[in-house]
Amino acid sequence: MPQILSLDNPGLFPAREAIPEQYCPKFPIHQRDYLLNGELKSWAGEVKEVFSPVQVRTENGVDPLLLGSYPRFGEAEAMAALKAAAAAYDQGRGAWPTSTVECRIKSLEKFLGLMKARRCEVVNLLMWEIGKNLKDSEKEFDRTVVYIEDTIGEMKNLDRASSRLEIKEGVIGQIRRAPLGVVLSMGPFNYPLNETFTTLIPALLMGNTAVFKPPKFGALLYGPLLEAFARAFPPGVVNTVYGDGSVIIKPMMESGLINVLAFIGTSRVADKIKSQHPKLHRMKSVLGLEAKNPAVILPDADLEPAVNECLLGTLSFNGQRCTALKILFVQEKILGEFLSRFSSAVDALQVGLPWDNAGITPLPEPGKPEFLAEMIRDAVEKGAKVVNPGGGKIIGNYLTPAVLSPVNASMRIYHEEQFGPVVPVVPFSDLGEAVDYIIDSDYGQQASVFGRNSQAIAELVDPLVNQVCRVNLNSQCQRGPDAFPFTARKDSAEGTLSVSDALRVFSIRTLVAAKQNPVNQAILEEILRERKSNFLNTDFIF
Ligand code: G3H
Repeated sequence: MPQILSLDNPGLFPAREAIPEQYCPKFPIHQRDYLLNGELKSWAGEVKEVFSPVQVRTENGVDPLLLGSYPRFGEAEAMAALKAAAAAYDQGRGAWPTSTVECRIKSLEKFLGLMKARRCEVVNLLMWEIGKNLKDSEKEFDRTVVYIEDTIGEMKNLDRASSRLEIKEGVIGQIRRAPLGVVLSMGPFNYPLNETFTTLIPALLMGNTAVFKPPKFGALLYGPLLEAFARAFPPGVVNTVYGDGSVIIKPMMESGLINVLAFIGTSRVADKIKSQHPKLHRMKSVLGLEAKNPAVILPDADLEPAVNECLLGTLSFNGQRCTALKILFVQEKILGEFLSRFSSAVDALQVGLPWDNAGITPLPEPGKPEFLAEMIRDAVEKGAKVVNPGGGKIIGNYLTPAVLSPVNASMRIYHEEQFGPVVPVVPFSDLGEAVDYIIDSDYGQQASVFGRNSQAIAELVDPLVNQVCRVNLNSQCQRGPDAFPFTARKDSAEGTLSVSDALRVFSIRTLVAAKQNPVNQAILEEILRERKSNFLNTDFIF
């Protein structure tokens, strides 16, 4: 049963003066700025305090560190942000949705330059707000920068391919992609920067206007970027809202002014938000939801790489990735060997502080170690064991990673997404058991298959690709590379994201068509020659 260990551990709970200077910003940061209609406004109302998952040692023991606070909007402020975005879109007549692609790219390039200059602050805040280690926090920032650069590149490709007229069956047409309207973008706490930007940035580039709500953990890190948004984008194109979803999202949805919901979180919350829109068919949803990605380890798997990939897949960022491997099916013949190697690798992970690049760091969600301990307790009561000697110990808001085996269908951990450092292992003798699990699951994001026999792998791949949206061979599940489609079936997603797909998801094909006759030809020629339209044009963006 989960053990509770003493907090008397300076490696996990450092004194403030023991924190390296460069990783310790001047807390508290009381962020009062918010972005409304192109201006940074100063907030004087209610605020939400932010405490770090990194807890520090004081004379009185171990205390949560107050990182700062951010605005807590009410309905009126949320609606002001939405109305600013709706006014900037102006039913498609606004300067932003009707501007040239080149002009929108210029705004984004300006934003990117300003964003890059704030890397250090954002990376530090990632560590402090969500406990992500330094290497992964840097990776999140850098990957987001590359994502924006690649999105600009794809936008140019898309525009080049549409910058010509076509003639079919006596009809001349120019087909382009046009924006959808006002986008509400809400990212998750585990990738607060990256996953918000993978929807927000393509949405803006396509000519939509947006309201975005930073996640509840990972909101302060937007502080350094607000000025960049204000300087790079025209008024109303980007607006921020802060506060409790139940207070601010509901009225915005009920107004019917939102055309696209881009949301990464749970299907329960997504369904609730969607149902608040008065005309559901008018709102497009782009959703990244929960998942329970399985790995199937076949008897001939090469165990060294399989253990390494399963370690990364299950426990990177404490298992708090939607793409994490959340259940391992291991063939009985290799169960003993796999468990022994895997448990040693898990126990070798450093539990510690983000800036020390520890593999296991404190968990940001209050009560999370206790929630996970309850799942462990449930599994143990029903016959599983914590296989690794160091596993399942609660130390404040850390939980040492626990490998549970043998797990079966009677246990909660078999069905529920743990989103934390607990790894259930299900032994199987008949491969059908693993395949049935995937078929019966409510989730359908990805799966991993470990083995060497090409025939056995091929026989597993064919049914699995119709159950999930990515089958990884001898590799962990993951979203990247960002040029690859990222999507899922069942309760795990709606819509497909990738550098190129996201531009498509936030736009719709629209065309101008005319019967080919001398009058229409002359009109089109004049519009093109005299550059009268931003839509009807054949300019080539270099
Ligand atoms: O939490 C979901 C993320 O999109 C996963 O991305 O597989 O690159 O960690 P990742």
